Amino acid sequence: MPAMTLVILGASGDLTQRLLMPALYRLHTLGLTRDLRIVGYAKERWSREHFEKHIQKALQAFAPDYKTSDWNRFRHQLDYVGGELEADQLGQLKSKLAPASLFYLALPPQLFGTAAKALGQAGFAKSPRNGWRRLVVEKPFGTDLASAQALRQEMHEYWEEEQIMRIDHFLGKETTQNLIVFRMANRFIEPVWNAQHIAQVQITFAETLGVEKRAAYYDKAGALRDMLQNHLMQLFSLTAIAPLAEVNAEILRDHKVEVLRSVVPITPATVDAHAVRGQYRAGAIGRKKVVGYRSEPGIPRSSCTETFAALRLEIDNWRWCGVPFYLRSGKRLASNYSEIAVQFRDVPGGLAKAVSAQNNWMIFRIQPVEQLDLVVTAKRPGLELAGRQVVLTAPYEMPHDRGFSAYEQLIMDAIEGFRGHFLRFDEVECAWKILAPVLDAWQTGAPDFYAAGSEGPSTQKRLLDPGQTWRSIARNGT
Ligand code: BG6
Repeated sequence: MPAMTLVILGASGDLTQRLLMPALYRLHTLGLTRDLRIVGYAKERWSREHFEKHIQKALQAFAPDYKTSDWNRFRHQLDYVGGELEADQLGQLKSKLAPASLFYLALPPQLFGTAAKALGQAGFAKSPRNGWRRLVVEKPFGTDLASAQALRQEMHEYWEEEQIMRIDHFLGKETTQNLIVFRMANRFIEPVWNAQHIAQVQITFAETLGVEKRAAYYDKAGALRDMLQNHLMQLFSLTAIAPLAEVNAEILRDHKVEVLRSVVPITPATVDAHAVRGQYRAGAIGRKKVVGYRSEPGIPRSSCTETFAALRLEIDNWRWCGVPFYLRSGKRLASNYSEIAVQFRDVPGGLAKAVSAQNNWMIFRIQPVEQLDLVVTAKRPGLELAGRQVVLTAPYEMPHDRGFSAYEQLIMDAIEGFRGHFLRFDEVECAWKILAPVLDAWQTGAPDFYAAGSEGPSTQKRLLDPGQTWRSIARNGT
């Protein structure tokens, strides 16, 4: 009997093929999951052999390091059960569970509640004396505050908060986790990480991709729910949290919640000063012409769903009072570029002016490269005492490093029971609360339009303080 079982509900679906299995396969090849049995569960009445073939094909397509010899070992870890999300059918899993078992809901969000409940009714939510039971839930957790609260209630009928691990895959990214390490393990950062020294923070996640084959989901969600409420809100709170004294999941999550609770509330009257929405029209990505959002397959011709959203958030606490945090994300923008860019205030005094000192920036680059840039003023070689901006770059990965993808990282955390990189319910709740007035306001009216391949709608400028400009998406932030 293996020491642990991971049951994937929704094992015939896209997430399992594209992300979960490649991650589990890599962990296997690194020898990190030897004691794990992986049981697929889905409504298809497949045999175990059929499931194996299905997964082998997926790995051939999505696992970059696929090797037949590794596969032949990995496939022995796999098992499969076909059935509906009903307690009596889930009961078939009983004999396959190890004392320590994990249930991964790789399901459409509307089934999260049903699945959690059916697992509970089957008796799987109760941790045995010699082990544990955990439930891993994908995003999105609700579509607004009320639905998130209702989902929580449904899940809590059988599951305790400590057993639920809500995924936000950005928290598994190396660059996101580096926010904690770099900020808190370097002596020179903390003294300047506050409103006295920082002028603004811009968090951008720009994609050239369009809606792809996700019309049904995306047209209901839009950019605010798809990216801002979860991923960007996490980058925001991690940038702004107070330093941690130790690596402790609950303290980390407490600190994040504290930031979210200190956000100056957006009200119906201030929505326009805090939020901008856009939708892409036809345009070009590089040389490739692309259609507008409303002409994408499956999208209603009159859809007003936003494919771009930008927010201005302010934090009312001692550390951040007066510093605007700008968050934006969009589809079909000029480049694939993501970063957290922190701008420092002007240097006072005549010398700074005389040498033309410009603002310092600290940039945590996430895409297309993972690196850290510090933009500083240094002397321009020559006879004059004059300055110019130079960039000190720290590549993030060194040649012998072994990095992990977000899913590899999070699956290992779920197995080990480290909850720091999963969302606690109060974080989810706070994020929905912050956005509630914007979601309400955006139920009517239309987004501003932008050409595919551009910087997004020009109206995003209205969120900025006088004298500030958005960093360029086309030029990857320069
Ligand atoms: C997902 C969103 O959560 O994150 C997608 O639903 C987005 O719309 C994706 O493209 C971006 O994440 P990554 O890790 O693929 O860059």
